[in-house]
Amino acid sequence: MSRSIVAGNWKMNTTPSEGKALVQKILSEVPQPGTRVIFGVPAIQLMQIQQIVSGHANYAVAAQNIHEKESGAYTGEISAAMLVDAGIEYVILGHSERRDYNGEDDDLINLKLTTALEHGLKPIYCCGEKLDIREAGNQEVVVGRQIEQALYSLDPEQMKQVVIAYEPVWAIGTGKTATNEQAQQMHAYIRRMITNQFGSDIANNTSILYGGSVKPGNAAELFAESDVDGGLVGGASLDAAGFAAIIRAAR
Ligand code: 13P
Repeated sequence: MSRSIVAGNWKMNTTPSEGKALVQKILSEVPQPGTRVIFGVPAIQLMQIQQIVSGHANYAVAAQNIHEKESGAYTGEISAAMLVDAGIEYVILGHSERRDYNGEDDDLINLKLTTALEHGLKPIYCCGEKLDIREAGNQEVVVGRQIEQALYSLDPEQMKQVVIAYEPVWAIGTGKTATNEQAQQMHAYIRRMITNQFGSDIANNTSILYGGSVKPGNAAELFAESDVDGGLVGGASLDAAGFAAIIRAAR
């Protein structure tokens, strides 16, 4: 099974009309991608985009968040069961923007991961260090802790469903991409951690994506690294031609 995935995280961008046009253009540019392609779209567009991609092999949709509880009086929230019923396959969890702006910590993210997995949703779990941590050389300590606290309580069957995205916070939306070596080094470290906890079979089948200023111009060299299985793309996923080029750069 290929580990290759190119996922777009649209964040809070695109109206429903714009989102529809964007996906239709990408589908026409890359009707048969050689990699799994996932659109992480705003909640209001989930069902529409799922309908557009259904029937297109290798295309899927991700939500950008879920609530950790099953259901109930949580105004404004969306549950895992709602997504599954709408045909959604993935959910992005642990993104640094939600950690920073919505106060999500590793304990809460672990609860959300568990809820997602219990419903059969596949989490795209984001981790990554801030600039001061990188400058102090402590990135493996911090990312290691994020991996351990979020994922080590999962059972092996659950872990098989998880996609990991390493997104150094200093590279998100800054135009400053990690070097190929920095990405490869961290991805190899994460894979070693997964090996130690879950065994090499699971680790060797886990997709580990890089995120942080992935562009058409740097995607191929990043994806060429042996432990970089693809990308989680923010800004560049909003441009059809550019995102199509990134899809084609996947191994
Ligand atoms: P950019 O590609 O805009 O740096 O964003 C990366 C990201 O946060 C994807 O989740």
